[in-house]
Amino acid sequence: MSLSELSGNLEPAVPSGLPDPTQLALLAQDFFDALPGAASPPSGAAGPSSIGASRPPALVTSSPLVSSGVAPSPELRPQAASPALDQAPRTPIAPLAPPSPSVASRTPWSDERHPSPAQMAPVLPPANTSPTSTPGSFYFLDYASGKSQSGASRRGPASPRADDRVSARPEALPGASSLSHLLQSDPRIAPTLKSSDSAHTPAADWHNPILRARHASALQLDVEAVRRDFPILSERVNGQPLIWFDNAATTQKPNAVIDRLSYFYQHENSNIHRAAHELAARATDAYEGAREIIRRFIGAQSAEEIVFVRGATEAINLVAKTWGAKNVGPGDEIIVSHLEHHANIVPWQQLAAQNHARLRVIPVDDSGQIRLDQYLALLNDRTRIVAITQVSNALGTVVPAQEVIAMAHARGIPVLLDGAQSVSHMRVDVKALDADFFVFSGHKIFGPTGIGALYGKRALLADMPPWQGGGNMIADVTFERTIYHAPPTRFEAGTGNIADAAGLGAALEYVENIGIEKIGEYEHALLGYATHLISQIPEVRIIGTAAHKASVLSFVLDGYTTEEVGQQLNRVGIAVRTGHHCAQPILRRFGVEATVRASLAFYNTCAEVDKMIEVIKRLRRERR
Ligand code: ALA
Repeated sequence: MSLSELSGNLEPAVPSGLPDPTQLALLAQDFFDALPGAASPPSGAAGPSSIGASRPPALVTSSPLVSSGVAPSPELRPQAASPALDQAPRTPIAPLAPPSPSVASRTPWSDERHPSPAQMAPVLPPANTSPTSTPGSFYFLDYASGKSQSGASRRGPASPRADDRVSARPEALPGASSLSHLLQSDPRIAPTLKSSDSAHTPAADWHNPILRARHASALQLDVEAVRRDFPILSERVNGQPLIWFDNAATTQKPNAVIDRLSYFYQHENSNIHRAAHELAARATDAYEGAREIIRRFIGAQSAEEIVFVRGATEAINLVAKTWGAKNVGPGDEIIVSHLEHHANIVPWQQLAAQNHARLRVIPVDDSGQIRLDQYLALLNDRTRIVAITQVSNALGTVVPAQEVIAMAHARGIPVLLDGAQSVSHMRVDVKALDADFFVFSGHKIFGPTGIGALYGKRALLADMPPWQGGGNMIADVTFERTIYHAPPTRFEAGTGNIADAAGLGAALEYVENIGIEKIGEYEHALLGYATHLISQIPEVRIIGTAAHKASVLSFVLDGYTTEEVGQQLNRVGIAVRTGHHCAQPILRRFGVEATVRASLAFYNTCAEVDKMIEVIKRLRRERR
């Protein structure tokens, strides 16, 4: 059945002829009770025709939770049925990192303290809610096609390599096929997911064709398999499963990265370049290999255009203090936008103060998008560089970088693009963009902290004086003079962050293996979903409503400080950032000093969004 046929069948009430909710609940219980990989078949694992047959009759017919009309407990409720129901064989999503038994042999959800996301009931219904009216939410489950949701199955062999102890594996989920069959047997189940709360429930999304279509496209990503690659996602915070909505601050790390770091220290650790021994060669290969991965990932011409730095902040400082010092003089102008992170303001401000230049600011419209007309008016013969973010960390606005660069280049002005918030959400191709400089931080794209990259066009880097002096960056030193290496090592004085560079390489390969477009598409759907729900809460004001956004949902809630909202969310395990997000000018443009910022990644789910929305709704009710 197609999605359009499905939409025609959507009805708000529980249709007659549906499977008994008791049966659903029992199957779901089997499903959730079973530990991943459990060998023994559960009682409800038989096909739909024999549902309940192997269970003691009393359990089926007299479950007080169901038959009395009391809402089933979260474990009983079928709402958490998720793409994990899909039993099609999954092939690994994680790239093949060197095996590390001590880490990779952990099964994230083999411990009952660490429930799988499928067990995370997003919304607890009121105690007197009928189970038939609140069975839960099914989000990206593809009832219509019954297709495998495993994007990985198109990428690799049918089964993981025997020696691969890193990648997500298919797991035996007892009862899953029966439950899945039951759920798919009648598409009218979708409308039964409606909660009693309001039209703002997840189920209401089934009535929104745009969101439904986006959910359908998001099926390309097997989020449950992805989540298994990130061990920290099975942590609990304040007794609740961790929900990590602080991805714009830093992202979590997949096993591929964790294991790569561990492998480096176990097998490769050495300083680089300077010794003719085996480990120096291994470490050098790891470091330079990562540089090559970065080159490939951002589409640079040559690995010599990639400079390792601590992160985007250091990269911008490097450009401001080298290229800037050489090329920006008295009366010159530097253009930034109103959206910038402090890291793309302060270094330019310092340069301007030092060299008697001037900072010019591209304004934004009321949605938080830059005004291209105003930008055009700012460009002039005194403009020396344009430094602009590709995605706003505070609002999520995706800036039209291609146009910004083309307009600057029309006047021969170079552009630095801050990719700290874009690189994990969209394809970056520095050649296609024709960016002169591009900067990003590894930790924002599932890599380690303390490592990032500066891309600079070869000719620009070659013309830049060194930044810091010391070992590694020199070709020859006497007391009279020093001859510097060519880029990139000219800008890498001292011992680099070798292990973390290798870790960053592993992170980028991990993303490559999944596919950045697939990631972006999924996140876009999720952001649309979250925006759709939160925008219907009248007391919420979204800060940043540009048509093109990535990952970030920034908001304030009437009657609450942002800290209060953040603390309440933290109480149920939800991590958001509150405050000014190191972007005070843009928040002040919208009349606020702080926002609550939920920033999403491709391992987040609709169930997690629901839980956040439920807290906000509760807060609203409590102060109304
Ligand atoms: N730049 C990071 C953020 O936006 C720290 O939270």
